[in-house]
Amino acid sequence: MPGKTAPYIATCECTPNNALIKYWGKRDEKLFLPTNSSFSVCMDEQLVTRTTVVFSPEFKQDEGWLDGKNLSADEMSSATKIFNLLRAKAKKNWFGRFASKNDFPTAAGFASSASGMAALAIAGAAALGLKLSLQELSIIARQGSGSACRSVLGGFVEWRKGEKADGSDSFAVQVASPGYWPELRCVIAIVAEEKKKVSSRSGMKQTIQTSSLFQQRLKQMPQKLEQAKQFVLSKNLPALLELVMRESNSMHACMLDTFPPVTYLNDSSRQVISAIHQLNEAKGAVIAGYTFDAGPNAHVYTVEKHVAEVKKLLEGLDGVKKTIVSKVGAGPNLSSTHLLSEKGELL
Ligand code: PMV
Repeated sequence: MPGKTAPYIATCECTPNNALIKYWGKRDEKLFLPTNSSFSVCMDEQLVTRTTVVFSPEFKQDEGWLDGKNLSADEMSSATKIFNLLRAKAKKNWFGRFASKNDFPTAAGFASSASGMAALAIAGAAALGLKLSLQELSIIARQGSGSACRSVLGGFVEWRKGEKADGSDSFAVQVASPGYWPELRCVIAIVAEEKKKVSSRSGMKQTIQTSSLFQQRLKQMPQKLEQAKQFVLSKNLPALLELVMRESNSMHACMLDTFPPVTYLNDSSRQVISAIHQLNEAKGAVIAGYTFDAGPNAHVYTVEKHVAEVKKLLEGLDGVKKTIVSKVGAGPNLSSTHLLSEKGELL
């Protein structure tokens, strides 16, 4: 029974990651296996998701709270999937409860399934007293949300797509440590969102089924990934930024080539795109580069000496509500600041 000696409660603090080379498309819907490998940067502790997990033989069902709101059975499906994988590893059939809170600065429309699912896998494993490798944790987190498999690590991270049908070789590895490129910054521009987006799960499925451009994109991915890693390792800023912008544009072009089209960018996103190109042109060098995921918010990469200028430029654009300047993050850690009591009550 959970009690004072609890190994049955644990809390993880985890941050989102942002992909430089994107994951868009699954080769296996059930196991969340991607059509291509991807490459991301861990965001810093300003964007922390805190998740507490408790397992107990006394619970009658799995239950969860997100930012204080009790989740419906439907909303619990990804968490239950992660709990099932953990229960199988621990050879225990106890139900689990979790509470998760995004400690992001007031920023509407900015939440991350990546940090949430990775935090759930890490806290859940710790709560059950499992000593899992990062590889195992990455494989479990992946089955909650694909991009979550990259959030179990800090620094620069590659999600190797793997070849096997059971997904045992589809997990994330660190390519460079958090401190490898200390000057690198990501200026996140939170923009106004008009309507609810199509989920990435359904968007990518429709792209695979209907876009012929996507087949072209797939052929370019192995080379793009190698280049991105090389440009990070050699700290080649202009080459990396150009590649990152082209990559984001390529993914969003495939979204537009989906039939019916899936669109995530809005007018503010398009303003960011033109403003960054104008800035680079005025400088006569590529000093900033944007990338967009399944939503209109921009992640703009640059280095420390240009941050003030980039931030000012973004904040001056119509529809940009707020900016957050992130360094390369250190990755997740366990914490003793729990959101649930050992009995599983919301604190
Ligand atoms: O794993 P999901 O469902 O959050 O999908 C992530 C998809 C993108 O954010 C658009 C790209 C990526 O690699 O993170």
